[in-house]
Amino acid sequence: MPTAPALVPLFLCVLGSVGGVYKQWIPDTNFENATNWDKGSVPCGSDQAVFPAQGKVAVYVGLVHTLAGLSLPVDGEFVLAPGAGFSIRVGQDPGCGAGGTTQFKDVESLKWFDPDLWSAASSVDDFQKGSYLFFVHEESVPCQYDDVLFRDASSFRVDVSGNTNTVPVKSVKVLGQRFESNSEFSQYLTSSLGKLQFHGSSSIKVEGSSCTDVTGCECGNSANHERICANVACSQQLDCKKPLRPVGHCCDVCGTIMDIQFSGSFNLDSYRQRLQHLFLALPKYKSVQLAASKVSKTQKMLGIIPYQSTHEIQVVLLDQNTGSEAGMLSEALARDILKDVHDQGAHLGIESADFRASSGATGSDVSGLGDGDVAGIVLGVLALVVFSVLLVVAYRKGLLPRMPRLPRLPSFSSWKKDSGEVGELGGPIDHGFDNPMFEKPHALPEISGLYGAESLNGITLTHSGVHFVNPVYDETDFTCLEKL
Ligand SMILES: *[C@@H]1O[C@H](CO)[C@@H](O)[C@H](O)[C@H]1NC(C)=O
Repeated sequence: MPTAPALVPLFLCVLGSVGGVYKQWIPDTNFENATNWDKGSVPCGSDQAVFPAQGKVAVYVGLVHTLAGLSLPVDGEFVLAPGAGFSIRVGQDPGCGAGGTTQFKDVESLKWFDPDLWSAASSVDDFQKGSYLFFVHEESVPCQYDDVLFRDASSFRVDVSGNTNTVPVKSVKVLGQRFESNSEFSQYLTSSLGKLQFHGSSSIKVEGSSCTDVTGCECGNSANHERICANVACSQQLDCKKPLRPVGHCCDVCGTIMDIQFSGSFNLDSYRQRLQHLFLALPKYKSVQLAASKVSKTQKMLGIIPYQSTHEIQVVLLDQNTGSEAGMLSEALARDILKDVHDQGAHLGIESADFRASSGATGSDVSGLGDGDVAGIVLGVLALVVFSVLLVVAYRKGLLPRMPRLPRLPSFSSWKKDSGEVGELGGPIDHGFDNPMFEKPHALPEISGLYGAESLNGITLTHSGVHFVNPVYDETDFTCLEKL
């Protein structure tokens, strides 16, 4: 067995707290994002750019735009990158064609509790690399111990209406500024920019706390389960015999669900890493999506009366196969994971595990001692028997004048500890481990530097952006921009 002593215990102490994941809001309200315009392209020199009159929106502008006209909403803000701005052109722009009216899409309906609007990763760099994490629907939305990111150099508008007054998260990063305390963040929410970005009946509460239970923490979104699922469209056609519904998921799936019973020495983060390195890294399992999280399950007396809720680790395995192959690859992976639980579970703090597959198959295993351990115990017991027999024989034959003092046998616990150091991970270990606790500090961009231009005729520059409260809503108000 390849050895990797001391490494796993080291993980455990360095990490200390676990479960924090980064969740990034996907949509933006950037001027330059073509998907924000009804024609599917950013307006150019011959176009009239029109924002809905009643819309409330902050719009990030990264470049200089020449337009035929600009209609602004009653309440809104431009967040201008250095050097960005608008100029109005009289007459046609040959590069832009005939021109016309281009509407900025309504962004009022984009909801915090829509799982499709978030991506998840275990480090900030992973977003750049595109290595995202997969979660059940409830956990695709930020959990109470997650860091929430809104992309730098982008604007957004999100409806934070939930079933509770506050929506707790660990931290929020907006326009390069990270908020880790609620006093700072609630102050930000009262700013004109903050009010345009976050709206709805609930408000985000930045709690700044990490999950301190190494066995994992519950996400905390089950109170909003129905709200979350209202935004999800489930696939109607499933090819498998017995589609399954994972806890926290909105849809039935073809795949395999594992339930793992753990003890206090279990570490959810290390276990996720282990599954990643031992199984998902194998070419044959490349296409499998794996979500591992702590969920609570209600035990029911006689199958009806709930009497107790227990925690377990749910591992959801989905493959992309269809037809008769749907769910089969995930089932094969579940069997491999079960074998690993049998061999190494005792060292990993896993007591038992079972799976249900969408083919109808099930399986279970309790963590036994590994083969090496068993061989060691057998040898140890044999040696002990032989030693005692020799001792008795020698005593009977009078070779020993009196009762010998038995040599102290090594105690089981210390022997077990030594053998436990052999290959905790059972394979070569990838040392590349992204510790989310050491996020590279990002220099906070100077707020004033974001809004390069000193003044634009007819538009007020405020500390937080360009504020155009426009009580007399009229397109022609903005012809003054021609001078630029
Ligand atoms: C534009 O917006 C869409 C959806 O809101 C988003 O998926 C995409 O990443 C954005 N494009 C850029 C270049 O940021």
